Amino acid sequence: MQLAHTIAELNQALASADADGKRVGFVPTMGALHAGHLSLVKKAQELDLFVVVSVFVNPRQFGHGDDLTNYPRTLGVDARVLTDAGVDILFAPSGSEVYPSSGVEEISAGELGNRFEGASRPGHFDGMLTVVNRLFNLVQPDVAFFGSKDAQQLVLVSQMVKRQVANGDREPIKIVACDTVRDESGLALSSRNQRIARDLLPAAQTISTALFAGSKKPSKQACIEAAKAELDPKIRLDYIELVNPDTFEVVESCEGSRMVIAARVGEVRLIDNLLLGGFA
Ligand code: PAF
Repeated sequence: MQLAHTIAELNQALASADADGKRVGFVPTMGALHAGHLSLVKKAQELDLFVVVSVFVNPRQFGHGDDLTNYPRTLGVDARVLTDAGVDILFAPSGSEVYPSSGVEEISAGELGNRFEGASRPGHFDGMLTVVNRLFNLVQPDVAFFGSKDAQQLVLVSQMVKRQVANGDREPIKIVACDTVRDESGLALSSRNQRIARDLLPAAQTISTALFAGSKKPSKQACIEAAKAELDPKIRLDYIELVNPDTFEVVESCEGSRMVIAARVGEVRLIDNLLLGGFA
């Protein structure tokens, strides 16, 4: 695996992909890698892509009161894990490499960026799209991989690329949505799980139990009630709703909807979701 910290090093490493005539698969991450990230890498490898993983904790997608300072940073371990996984390039840039003093396009997430995660974390999606757009410009992937746990992020990235391609602003990038990876209890894997206090883990696990319970009910009201009934009293619920999976508009019917949930467990904020009709 080639490790690139600068854009010059990245370009040099990418030239070897060009030389082999391989298409580039990109997995953007903020590090503290877990089996969920590795499932994205595996998917890219199954498609015989030259795999680039980025590790960059993007300050612009953390708001006031968010956990930027406490966000786990484990680059040494991440690099070893990615080497073992057979990744071709690890791009781990500094802040100044990603955000030079000028020339970085600010992307607005628009109306969808103000719903749910966007309402709870103002500016989060603008910052996320800005960095993803910047990383796409640097890596120039053919295919990019995102986990379905961050379902709203996935829709926003897909829409951004679609818009840019339609405007002739970029070459097409295929956005691949990958299934959420869960531990044996059902808890969705997240880098933030590392920060859940051991005694609060059983409470955190009720987030996915709630989704499972809700998904078995035929009406929206029954679905939300069943889900809430599963939540441990130590969970501080931010939102639970049924939404249209493409627009994140609230819907009244379970059929074809996505149940989304966000909650705090101690200091850690977790999100999860389920496409009704089966796990996604
Ligand atoms: O999902 C994440 O880890 C981040 O939002 C991403 C896509 C790497 C952008 O910083």
